[in-house]
Amino acid sequence: LVASMEQVEETYIMVKPDGVQRGLVGEIISRFEKKGFKLKALKLFQCPKELAEEHYKDLKAKSFYPKLIDYITSGPVVSMAWEGVGVVASARKLIGSTDPLQAEPGTIRGDLAVQTGSKQICRNVIHGSDSPDNGKREVGMTANIIE
Ligand code: TYD
Repeated sequence: LVASMEQVEETYIMVKPDGVQRGLVGEIISRFEKKGFKLKALKLFQCPKELAEEHYKDLKAKSFYPKLIDYITSGPVVSMAWEGVGVVASARKLIGSTDPLQAEPGTIRGDLAVQTGSKQICRNVIHGSDSPDNGKREVGMTANIIE
């Protein structure tokens, strides 16, 4: 086995405003629980603009960035910290591709995300950290809010 596959990691999972509005929180938690990961922290809250900007700072130059920030701050989100061996990469697999139309059936976005137009990729139900370092960074960023 590759050493990194054996690391206990933390990942930051956020059910985005469309997921909360559509009543998908329970279904999403259930998929992570059934997979065997450990829920470490959870909170429903309205994401402040400063936190949204910090969270997505790597995407600041992208054309969709302003819409993404508006969207993420448009309604309550559910933020969670999940722990487990290889949880970061595994969560990304459970979540599926960024674009709901490209996401495979069986994934959270593939099964649950809708697309209402070509400019609506941001409404893809869920966020998951893309690396163990970002997992730590994002869980740390919200620790004072969600724990
Ligand atoms: P990204 O980090 O590339 O995707 P992921 O969430 O799968 O890690 O992008 C962050 C979010 O930005 C993504 O979930 C939805 C939004 N987004 C758009 O609105 N349009 C786009 O073309 C892309 C690539 C992302």
